[in-house]
Amino acid sequence: MTLARTRSTGLVGVRGYLVDVEAAITSGTPGLHLVGLPDTALSEARDRVRAAIMHSGEEWPVRHVTVALGPAGLPKSGASFDVAIAVAILAAAGVLPASVCAEPVMIGELGLDGGVRPVPGVLPAVLGAAEAGVRTVVVPRANRPEAELVPGIKVVAVGTLRALLCELRGEPPPLEPEPDDEPPRPPLPGEPSRGRRGALDLADVRGQAEARRALEISAAGGHHLFLAGPPGCGKTMLAERLPGLLPPLDRQTALEATAIHSVAGTLPPGQPLIDRAPFHAPHHSASRSAIVGGGSGRRVRPGAVSLAHGGVLFVDDPRDQVLHTVGVLQGHRPRMGPVYRYA
Ligand SMILES: Nc1ncnc2c1ncn2[C@@H]1O[C@H](COP(=O)(O)OP(=O)(O)OP(=O)(O)O)[C@@H](O)[C@H]1O
Ligand SMILES: [Mg+2]
Repeated sequence: MTLARTRSTGLVGVRGYLVDVEAAITSGTPGLHLVGLPDTALSEARDRVRAAIMHSGEEWPVRHVTVALGPAGLPKSGASFDVAIAVAILAAAGVLPASVCAEPVMIGELGLDGGVRPVPGVLPAVLGAAEAGVRTVVVPRANRPEAELVPGIKVVAVGTLRALLCELRGEPPPLEPEPDDEPPRPPLPGEPSRGRRGALDLADVRGQAEARRALEISAAGGHHLFLAGPPGCGKTMLAERLPGLLPPLDRQTALEATAIHSVAGTLPPGQPLIDRAPFHAPHHSASRSAIVGGGSGRRVRPGAVSLAHGGVLFVDDPRDQVLHTVGVLQGHRPRMGPVYRYA
């Protein structure tokens, strides 16, 4: 029997924890057996990993392969264990130096062609790894900026399994096509103007001095704000401009907000750190779980309240249930603070 191990990370809520990934190759019926409470996406790693290893020019061990994810009692979910599973199998097969594979934490989904795809939740995963004393983390190349937000940890970003194998063997990297960087989109005609920081600008609002002042007081003091007035007088327009008045997030809140959006898969491309107040506007008929969040222990789905963490939760023309849910979350009945009425 040959045995090798590496490490990866799982998520409980928006906190990452270390997962040991062990592979054992034994005699017996050829095949890959995955244990450690995997969900469906993780169970399908069997097929992805096998195809990716073969497309990377490596031999698939035609023996009985057991991969164990520990701690065995915690449910694991998602495809982010693929890279660690592939590396553990190749180390157990003796084609990678096992000692080099044991320390780093490896995160990433594999395509059948051996490409390493981005996964949600990289920031909390790397934060969790760094807190546990890990020194090196392997992440998909597309997740590099997010991983590099964590100080004191070496980030190895790879685009393919082949590139990672070269890195682990100490060989020069293969020539890989660089991902295309999307150029910034020019504003469309009639698109609202955005201030220096990219937020919608209060300069677009004509008049409404009283409502603007209410907005400024709300921003300065962090107060809730209820806007009431006739249709078309600019309530939505004003509310959407509140984030532009808010100061940048402090480092701790920025990391918390980024971790939430990373887990939800809503991190804007090209913006690894959410350092401006987020703005989240759920539909007026949103369900309770859309507001407070849902999911399970394996995979949380942050709701509107979490997605607005550190910023503005904008409930436009809400139905009673939405107001009630938000009010209860704020620890009081749905009285949303001072009411500003204006025409
Ligand atoms: N004070 C204003 N300055 C500039 N444009 C305005 C102003 N008020 C309204 N508008 C224009 O009218 C449009 C409609 O305003 P908005 O949707 O904000 O109104 P509302 O009060 O939210 O209405 P409703 O109650 O129907 O939701 C805005 O997109 C904007 O183009
Ligand atoms: Mg409106």
